[in-house]
Amino acid sequence: MGEPTRILCVVNDATLPDTLSRLFLSRDIQVLRAESGKEALGIARGESVAVVVAGNLLPEMRGVELLSQIRDLSPNTVRVLLAGHTDLPAAIEATHRGVASRFLEEPWVEEEIFRTVEGGVRRYQVIRSLRHADEAALLWIAQEIELKDPYTRGHCDRVAAAALKIAGALRLPEGTLRAIKHGSWLHDCGKIDVPEGILNYPGKLSTADFEVIKKHPGWGAEIGRQANLPEEVINIILHHHERFDGKGYPTGAKGTEIPLEARIVAVADVFDAMSGDRPYAKGYDREEAMRVMGVLREAALDPRLVDLLLANLTP
Ligand SMILES: [Fe+2]
Repeated sequence: MGEPTRILCVVNDATLPDTLSRLFLSRDIQVLRAESGKEALGIARGESVAVVVAGNLLPEMRGVELLSQIRDLSPNTVRVLLAGHTDLPAAIEATHRGVASRFLEEPWVEEEIFRTVEGGVRRYQVIRSLRHADEAALLWIAQEIELKDPYTRGHCDRVAAAALKIAGALRLPEGTLRAIKHGSWLHDCGKIDVPEGILNYPGKLSTADFEVIKKHPGWGAEIGRQANLPEEVINIILHHHERFDGKGYPTGAKGTEIPLEARIVAVADVFDAMSGDRPYAKGYDREEAMRVMGVLREAALDPRLVDLLLANLTP
């Protein structure tokens, strides 16, 4: 048994820690409470804390100041700020600066705070597991992440297989092959931060929702950095939605500015996405997928890598 996961509550509202204890009762999660920022810091120094939920108007120090100190002390701890109406500008600014991972407006709503804290616990656990994970554990984590998006079941394994076909044909070194395999498994790990209602929406997403989806490579790369993953793996996570013509996201890098390992996984990802059924589209058969790949090779994907994949597919 590992040590329990801890949530630390430092709020003026005495009912919130009890509510969280009740909501997380069935899990191996401890809810700790502190009366002041100073006491909260003392707890965070002594024990690992997955998620801290802080109000802003605390005795001795503001919640924003507390979260800033907790970030220095324990960067992987997910920091949730509860902000009253008058604190909103400070809360938005703290979130923008990365001091708070996210903020919720008071009065808090039980379902919303549960979802936020639960998401924070999952993110913390993923980072902790990734840190020293062996290969079997990495695949297990990737599959756990996939469960959130049932339409992608088996996707990470198939992407790895296709990406390794390309990488093998390029005779890339062993270490890069390993990074490509792991990056293929984990490329969508940032989706753990995307609300399921958006991820599984069965139609065309609104522009605002698509903007949220577009954040998953950056969020995933942040997880990769916090977990000390190798740079090539982080490159894959960050750049797997870039396009060869520069019209992709999140950075808009184009051509060979996009790291080779990310271009390889982008080809494999698109190929697999076309071969399976998605919430928004029915999958193509292999022949149709190859025809569309031929079209995409003109703009979206590195043409040389598309050709290598198509040449190395087993019939
Ligand atoms: Fe993705």
